[in-house]
Amino acid sequence: MPMTFDRSVKIAPSILSADFANFGAEIRAIEGQGADWVHVDVMDGHFVPNLTFGPPAVKAFRRHVKTVMDVHLMIAPVDPFIEAYAEAGADILTAHVEAGPHIHRTLQAIRGAGMKAGVALNPGTPAEAVAHLLDLAGLVCVMTVNPGFGGQTFIDMTAKIRTLRAMIGDRPVHIEVDGGVDPATAPVVVDAGADVLVAGSAVFRGGSVDKAEIYGQNIRAIRGAATAATNAA
Ligand code: DX5
Ligand code: ZN
Repeated sequence: MPMTFDRSVKIAPSILSADFANFGAEIRAIEGQGADWVHVDVMDGHFVPNLTFGPPAVKAFRRHVKTVMDVHLMIAPVDPFIEAYAEAGADILTAHVEAGPHIHRTLQAIRGAGMKAGVALNPGTPAEAVAHLLDLAGLVCVMTVNPGFGGQTFIDMTAKIRTLRAMIGDRPVHIEVDGGVDPATAPVVVDAGADVLVAGSAVFRGGSVDKAEIYGQNIRAIRGAATAATNAA
């Protein structure tokens, strides 16, 4: 879908925490309960120690996504797979700056394939690693866990988010935070300048497609806490 840019708080549930035998219904359930984007975590068992979805699975998810499909590649190399994820229907394709020596070329190729280009930073990587990429990228993803698994403990990256927010200035670049986001940590990262909140366990916890209202409660709890931070700023 065509994407307009705004810095309002967006909740992007990660389907890594969904029922893997029921993705279509899970995607419809989270969107029905107020998700702004759908976050898809692609892992290769090489860049990160876990394996998830290839392009055919992501293409199958696309048929159910009515909002924005936000695909986070935790794979290396990235470039040989860009076309396949474009064909699978990704709106945003995010690659890690640590995934190879040519992140600039990778972002050019993602844009060239018609997607918004995202660049992700592991916790150990400084904000300055994206300094020369901010006119190419539409999103910077700040990892607040070491990537590979859902349900890990939040690592405070507030200083990095603040630095990025200042570096980005007026450019139309989202700051996404991924890992350990819940109603307690959401206001901290939004206050620092983040606008896209990825949340896996904090959205899916306690719910199911048959108890989708729990997803709604969880999404509203994160959004409410985050919006309070925006209003206080
Ligand atoms: C971690 C993934 C995250 C993860 C978030 O490698 O990139 O998107 O699913 O899960 P929670 O919100 O449970 O930390
Ligand atoms: Zn992710």
